Amino acid sequence: MQLIRLLADGSLHSGETLAAQLGMSRAAVWKALRRVRDRFGLALVSERGRGYRLETPIELLDPACILGALSPRTRDALADLQIHQQIDSTSRHLMRASALGAASGTICLAEHQTAGRGRLGRLWVSPYGANLYLSGLWRFPSGPAGLGALSLAAGVVVADVLQRAGAQGVGLKWPNDVLWCRRKLAGILLEVTGEAQGPCVLVLGVGVNLRMTRRAGQGIDQPWVDLTEVLGESGAVSRNRLAANLIDGLSDAIERFLREGLEPFLSGWHALDVCRGHPVRLSMGERKIDGTALGVGMDGALCLSTLEGERRFHAGEVSLRRVGTRECDA
Ligand code: BTN
Repeated sequence: MQLIRLLADGSLHSGETLAAQLGMSRAAVWKALRRVRDRFGLALVSERGRGYRLETPIELLDPACILGALSPRTRDALADLQIHQQIDSTSRHLMRASALGAASGTICLAEHQTAGRGRLGRLWVSPYGANLYLSGLWRFPSGPAGLGALSLAAGVVVADVLQRAGAQGVGLKWPNDVLWCRRKLAGILLEVTGEAQGPCVLVLGVGVNLRMTRRAGQGIDQPWVDLTEVLGESGAVSRNRLAANLIDGLSDAIERFLREGLEPFLSGWHALDVCRGHPVRLSMGERKIDGTALGVGMDGALCLSTLEGERRFHAGEVSLRRVGTRECDA
């Protein structure tokens, strides 16, 4: 949207200049500003007699920038790069697109998700232009068995991309929460559909909190953090470059996972595992299992030492029960 592009720099724009740039009347500009605020939830500041500005500047997603920052290998394998201003959910969109024949290697990003989805039916709070909401679709000839462990490999990739962007102290909580000081920095949602033995479609969605707005953050029901806080104001990263790094990392990881399974990712996972060796509680609906986390197996299962002996789990939500000796190790 042209008006948002003009305002994205965060500086003050007079109604008169905006009207001239957009070829509309000042009254129409005013209406368009209200629409931007109401539809996308953007925080607009109006300075009496001087003009309008966004409360926080936005680096808008730019396909040319993202494509330019991809490795040649990923660029060659990319079927389509879609960037939406507003969508219900990038993952849901790709699931729908897969039914209509979308090609393997389709990537979808959005500035704003109106119904972003998290694991276990949670909502993923997705304000406009603030964070990264990215999903990729890949098709595989054989059944979905074993693909679940790919979400752990994706966790390692996301953590690695964030570390390379300068975030120190990032950790992983099974199966794929990316944490910083026990607060959620990024999340991964893996969805697979298809026949048990036949072709299947995988949609991998990644949400990274970059600069969560204070207002939107109030709607999050778990401790969270954004990359701006992790890096400090001086360590700003480019959204487009980060998106490209994620697409590169995930594309490579999927190829590697299909060839070699979870094994090449396990040492990276173990190094970042915030639970290993600590008392945890695994919740599976109403069922709670207490134990000490032993790490993850080759199939991505969580291994727990419990009163009934060593047990392995493929689903559930882990919470750390450790009493804080080390205050902030992810
Ligand atoms: C989690 O609960 O940790 C998973 C969060 C995944 C959020 C991302 S944002 C892009 C993609 N689209 C969605 O609706 N969800 C995923």
